[in-house]
Amino acid sequence: MQKSYERLIQGNEKWVKDKLKLEPDYFKKLSKGQTPEFLWIGCSDSRVPANEITGSHSGEIFVHRNIANQVIHSDTNMLSVLQYAVEYLHVKHVIVCGHYGCGGVKAAMDTDHVGLVGRWLAHVKDIYQNNIDVLELMKDPVEREKRMVELNVVEQVHNLAKTSFVQKAWKKRALEIHGWVYSLENGKIIDLNCKYSNIDQLEPIYRFSGL
Ligand code: CO
Repeated sequence: MQKSYERLIQGNEKWVKDKLKLEPDYFKKLSKGQTPEFLWIGCSDSRVPANEITGSHSGEIFVHRNIANQVIHSDTNMLSVLQYAVEYLHVKHVIVCGHYGCGGVKAAMDTDHVGLVGRWLAHVKDIYQNNIDVLELMKDPVEREKRMVELNVVEQVHNLAKTSFVQKAWKKRALEIHGWVYSLENGKIIDLNCKYSNIDQLEPIYRFSGL
């Protein structure tokens, strides 16, 4: 009997054949290097693959994913990806893409103890508490959860603007940070219009001097 993971290897073999049929030089070209225009910070959720939902291809998007698309200032994994993308790949856009129906956001809105992942989601809980007046006015739990997903994205975009890497880039060139939400129900991406493109949009206390 075929093991489930063998399907992935076979899928890869078919994919290679298909690619080569369309473009014999495909892998030769890709292997020379990457010049992606976008950095994508998304959720690890298996239903939100960056390339697939944006109709883009290998080489176009540099990707970092974690549970609930967090930008946490002590996360050296995310920060390394950000620094590399901004300083070495010179991406023009950083996109934080959350998604409705996010299990991470749901867990953060609940009081159940969920172990280590709960610690990871502690910042999302803070977003809930900081916006409790607006959120608890919303009687429909589905709408409240959707709003939390959006607030979470807005917060992560704000967190990106607070980083030295982004601020350093702004001194020299154009760089935009966007906040988007993906809907699992209809496959569409919504732009939350919380874009940052220069330091003047950021509260003075977060602006680094001497960069
Ligand atoms: Co999620």
